[in-house]
Amino acid sequence: MTDQYLPKTTRLQIVLDAGRSYDIRVGSGLLASAGEQLRVVSALSQINQAVVLSDSNVGPLYARAAREALHAAGFSTTLFSVAAGEQSKSLANAGELWEAFAAAGIGRDTVVVALGGGVVGDLAGFVASTWMRGVPFVQLPSSLLAMVDSSIGGKTAIDLAAGKNLVGSFYQPAYVLCDLNLLDSLPDAEWANGLAELVKSAIIDSPEFYNWLLENNAALAARERPVLAQAIVRALRFKASVVVADEREAGRRECLNYGHTFAHALETCAGFGAVGHGRAVAEGIRFAARLATEAVGAPVEFAVEQEAALEALALFTPLAPAVAHVRAEELYAAMLSDKKVRDGAVRFVFAEAPGHWQATLVDPDLIKIYLLYWQQAQQ
Ligand SMILES: NC(=O)c1ccc[n+]([C@@H]2O[C@H](COP(=O)([O-])OP(=O)(O)OC[C@H]3O[C@@H](n4cnc5c(N)ncnc54)[C@H](O)[C@@H]3O)[C@@H](O)[C@H]2O)c1
Repeated sequence: MTDQYLPKTTRLQIVLDAGRSYDIRVGSGLLASAGEQLRVVSALSQINQAVVLSDSNVGPLYARAAREALHAAGFSTTLFSVAAGEQSKSLANAGELWEAFAAAGIGRDTVVVALGGGVVGDLAGFVASTWMRGVPFVQLPSSLLAMVDSSIGGKTAIDLAAGKNLVGSFYQPAYVLCDLNLLDSLPDAEWANGLAELVKSAIIDSPEFYNWLLENNAALAARERPVLAQAIVRALRFKASVVVADEREAGRRECLNYGHTFAHALETCAGFGAVGHGRAVAEGIRFAARLATEAVGAPVEFAVEQEAALEALALFTPLAPAVAHVRAEELYAAMLSDKKVRDGAVRFVFAEAPGHWQATLVDPDLIKIYLLYWQQAQQ
C-alpha cells in the first residue's frame, strides 16, 4: 500500500553528541530557495561567502540556479568545477582547490557548497574539513546514490593509487538539501547505484521498510515521483539512525556494508569501472544472502526474496564478459586485502530476516566454496 499523504517537503534531523545537529530537507524544486534555507541555519549565520563545487556534468545544469539562489539570499559566490568521475576524488584536485581558494581569498567566513554526486560531496567535504582547519559545508546532492547515502553521515574522502577513500575525515555537513528535480537529468546508468543502496537499506532497516519496498518495487523501477520521494526519505531515515548511533564507525555503522564485501572484491578483480557499483552491490547482496543460508542458517526463502527484489528493479544486468576472467581465489584475496579486514579473516554482514543483521567472521573454506559456485555460474 502506498501512503496517500506526502508533505511538500520532508525534514529529517541528525542529532549528534555535544549539541551538534543538522537538518536534511527533501522535496521537489528546493534548489531555488537554497540560499534562503541556508540563511536560517544557525551554524551559517555569520557567513556571507559561498564556494560552490560541482562537476563537469552537474555544474552546467544546475550551478547557475544554485548561485542565483545564494545571491538572492545575500551570499557572494565563487564556482569551482572538477571533471565528472571518480578520478576527480584525487589529492591533485584537493591541492588545486586549496591553491585556488588561497588565490581567491577564501577565508573562514565561507561555506563550501557541494553540488553533485558522491564524488563532489566527498571531495568538497574533504576540502572543507581541511581548509583553514575546517569551514562549514553543505550538501546539495544530485545523484540518487548521493541522496540516499553519501550526502549524510559525514564521511569525506579522496582516493589514492593504493585504494579508494584512503585519505579523508569525519566531517558533518551543516545542511543537506535533496531537490528531487535534479534527478530528472540523472543518466539511466547511474540509477542502479542508488537503487542497490536503497534495497540494502530496506533489508537492513526493518520489516516495515522491506515490505514497503517489495510492494512498491514496480513504481520505484518506473521512478514514480511520490514513491521515489518516499524511498529516499526512508533510506535517509535509516542512514540517519545508523549515523546517530555510530558516527565514527565503531560498531553499528558496519551494517551499511551489507553486500559490499563481495561487491568491492568484484569491482577490484573486474578492474575498476568494468562493473558498475550498483551492479556489484546487487551481486554482493545476492552473494551474502546465499552465503548466509549456510553461515548463519538464514532461510533460503529470504535469499530468494531478496534476489527477486533486486531483479524487479532490473539490477541484474548481464555481467559477462566483464567478469569472465575473475577467479574465486582472486576474489578471496581481494576480500582479504580490504582495508576493513582485521587479523586475516573476512567479516560478512548477514541478514537473517529484514531488520535482523549481524556481522561475523566467516570460515574461509565456506567463503571459498561459495566463490567457486559464483565463478561456475559465470561460465
Ligand atoms: N561519503 C560516504 O558516506 C559515501 C557513501 C557512498 C559512496 N560514496 C562515494 O560516492 C561516490 C559515488 O557517488 P555517485 O554515484 O553519485 O557518483 P558521481 O558523483 O561520480 O556521479 C555519477 C555520475 O552522474 C553524474 N551526475 C550526478 N548527478 C547528476 C544529475 N543530476 N544530472 C546529470 N548527471 C549527474 C556525475 O557527473 C557523474 O558523471 C564514490 O566516490 C563513493 O566512494 C561516499
